[in-house]
Amino acid sequence: MSNQYEVLGAAPKADDLKKLSPADVHLKIKNLSAGYGKMEILHNLDLFVSRAQSLCLIGPNGAGKSTILHSIYGFTNIFSGEIEIDGREITNLTPAEKLKSEGIAYILQDNSVFPDMTVEENLLMGGFIKDKTEESFEEAEKVLQKYERLNNRRNQPAKVLSGGERRLLEISRALVMKPSVLLVDEPSIGLEPKYIDMVFEILGDLQQNEKKTIILVEQNAKKGLEFADIGYVLVSGQTAIAGTGEDLLKNQDVGRLFLGG
Ligand SMILES: Nc1ncnc2c1ncn2[C@@H]1O[C@H](COP(=O)(O)OP(=O)(O)OP(=O)(O)O)[C@@H](O)[C@H]1O
Ligand SMILES: [Mg+2]
Repeated sequence: MSNQYEVLGAAPKADDLKKLSPADVHLKIKNLSAGYGKMEILHNLDLFVSRAQSLCLIGPNGAGKSTILHSIYGFTNIFSGEIEIDGREITNLTPAEKLKSEGIAYILQDNSVFPDMTVEENLLMGGFIKDKTEESFEEAEKVLQKYERLNNRRNQPAKVLSGGERRLLEISRALVMKPSVLLVDEPSIGLEPKYIDMVFEILGDLQQNEKKTIILVEQNAKKGLEFADIGYVLVSGQTAIAGTGEDLLKNQDVGRLFLGG
């Protein structure tokens, strides 16, 4: 990693991170080393997030932000360390088990809507793993009732949706499984400003009103930190700075490196 990040100094300790998420820790990562194949990307990483708290991961390209989400969801090789939900170890569960029994949903960075399926069919795909299809229908209906933009187009192929509506559909599809933890990779990528605000409003509603725990990766550091309760700055697979969103927005290093100021 280039020298510009070396000035950031010592990584915060697990105890310091814990102070940012003091109550009711929902998801915890302990001393995690993980990567792809034999390559280690994350090195002794700790992470805490309280129930109904939002955590934003920022950092340069290739720092390992998406890899943290991948590791929580079960897409990486875990060399050592632990991941816990409500104090239960879930490190080696499969993605399907994490979704089904642990309530962890992963919203992909890339466009994952099925263009030729209708909006409603796309939503039902979110519940494909449920044993009870009836319950998926009910949840899909609830989501459609909540988001008029989608309901108006429920019988149209998803390809007619605007970029913002498509992102809304991607988020909504995850909701059909009634997750308690949302892992969201770059919600604002490729969206016009008016849709970026819409997506953050939706995430805010899910956190405030439905008490979802949210871990998001956001390239738009300003938006992400304005939204999130707390933020971690990731550099070369380790957390270099951590703080409340507000504090990080005021932090000079964060400003210079990630806020263009
Ligand atoms: N499936 C994979 N197989 C092998 N290496 C991977 C894989 N996915 C990511 N990597 C590598 O892991 C490192 C961290 O990648 P990651 O996608 O976590 O970065 P990031 O912080 O999300 O970056 P960006 O801001 O560009 O999305 C990079 O060096 C990348 O090349
Ligand atoms: Mg990424």
